Amino acid sequence: MFIMKLIILTSVILCITFLTEAVPTGSLNSGVIRLPITKKHSADVLIKRGDPGSFVSDIYSIQGSEYVVHLDIGTPPQKFSVFLDTGSADLWIPSTKCDTAQCPFSRFDETLSSTFTPTDQNFTLRYGGGNSTVTFGIDTVSFGGVTVLNQPVGLASVVKGAGILPGAINFTLSAINTSPKALTLEDVSSNGLLGLAFIRLAEYKNSNENNYGSLIFNMIDQKIITEPIFSVYLGNPSALVNSGEIIFGGIDSTKYTGELLYSPVAKTGLSDDYSSTGPLASAYIYHTYWATYAYSITVKDKGNAIDAKMPSDSVFMFDTGTKLSYFPLEIIVNIMDAILGPENYGVDPRSSLFVLDCSAKNSTASIQLNMLSSHDTLNTLTINVPFGNLVFPEDGTSIEESSICYFGIRASMSMLTENPFTSYIIGNTILRQLYLVYDIGQTRIGFANAIGNDITFSLS
Ligand SMILES: *[C@@H]1O[C@H](CO)[C@@H](O)[C@H](O)[C@H]1NC(C)=O
Ligand SMILES: *[C@@H]1O[C@H](CO)[C@@H](O)[C@H](O)[C@H]1NC(C)=O
Ligand SMILES: *[C@@H]1O[C@H](CO)[C@@H](O)[C@H](O)[C@H]1NC(C)=O
Ligand SMILES: *[C@@H]1O[C@H](CO)[C@@H](O)[C@H](O)[C@H]1NC(C)=O
Repeated sequence: MFIMKLIILTSVILCITFLTEAVPTGSLNSGVIRLPITKKHSADVLIKRGDPGSFVSDIYSIQGSEYVVHLDIGTPPQKFSVFLDTGSADLWIPSTKCDTAQCPFSRFDETLSSTFTPTDQNFTLRYGGGNSTVTFGIDTVSFGGVTVLNQPVGLASVVKGAGILPGAINFTLSAINTSPKALTLEDVSSNGLLGLAFIRLAEYKNSNENNYGSLIFNMIDQKIITEPIFSVYLGNPSALVNSGEIIFGGIDSTKYTGELLYSPVAKTGLSDDYSSTGPLASAYIYHTYWATYAYSITVKDKGNAIDAKMPSDSVFMFDTGTKLSYFPLEIIVNIMDAILGPENYGVDPRSSLFVLDCSAKNSTASIQLNMLSSHDTLNTLTINVPFGNLVFPEDGTSIEESSICYFGIRASMSMLTENPFTSYIIGNTILRQLYLVYDIGQTRIGFANAIGNDITFSLS
């Protein structure tokens, strides 16, 4: 479990931004909080790693744009912009105990909050190339016009290595960024992290030794949302602001076409030492990550179908915290061989990205993600992703201006192989084409084609 969390935090790369002001909830029910997602910076800059042939860390695959969540913490409120990460479950921010070299943006001063209660729970957050040390406090968290009481908030006193916080990222970027468009501090200005995975992944324990820290579970407990779900629409990648939105407690049917199709969340909570009763018992007991049971990945092009064989214990993880998607190397090789032929692609040793001719944008092939379906008599839900949708310009701002393109699925970090499940991380290169419903109550994930895209689905 710890290793898996480590992996997800390693890959916290691109996150969701929303503004603090709620927009009118329109036709949605009360108990729904709707927040616009703001994309802070549009430069889709390719970051290259100076470490030839290594697949160990993906921390440098940060692209030029990021999504952060704006939160007010304490009374009176202190403002933070945090990564939104469906691959972890705690909320943490820098504290004034963290020096300004490590934590250059806002730092939480607990002495200024009248609602703050200290705890003696510490944990060390580990991620590729570094770690941060966090002590939990309990305080009020507000966003989008709602207030969550008694929320555990990790206060980071130490942030080490190439990591999530901007000081560290800034240092790393300047060392490794060989692209013409260097990133600035402002481009990566998130400052903390909000995890939205299942509560078992949360580090904070209440007085009964139960995991407790999750903000979304607290919103459900405190009846701030009536439906135990949140929905994510990342929106148009070229939009500068308000590109999409996250909805806590509701679904916006104007943001997708066709119907929502569901897949059950894989039971990745492997130990038996949890018990719970009530309508959300399954969510409390069996689940950790937002992952589904993966059957296979197939490639289809004009009758030429291949099965990129997967181990039977595989899961697809739908992680808003990562920009690219990650499959095992041999699976990507199978896909590339089938669609382009073995001579027609390469792997950039500096970045570990697959590179290909930009004409592949026009390919008629598609990649099919086959997973367990929630829909009664049917058992496979397939997401068809057009191959061309995963072809991005490498050395120009557009496909037309680029001499070479890269593929939106990258080889997994080697540490992924230590997981109890073989993980295929579906990151934002695919997620932003989808409308996603993260359903805690029914422990399932809903998928639809996000407006403006051409993803198709099938049930079989
Ligand atoms: C937690 O960390 C703080 C400083 O960051 C330290 O003062 C405190 O003793 C630690 N508590 C425990 C239980 O280790
Ligand atoms: C945290 O990172 C530092 C610097 O990389 C390292 O020396 C230390 O051992 C790490 N601690 C843990 C608990 O991983
Ligand atoms: C971050 O980058 C900016 C701009 O390049 C630079 O001025 C600043 O010193 C850097 N900060 C750190 C901590 O490296
Ligand atoms: C895709 O096909 C169109 C129409 O044939 C062509 O104009 C365009 O240049 C092609 N794009 C690439 C990237 O090859």
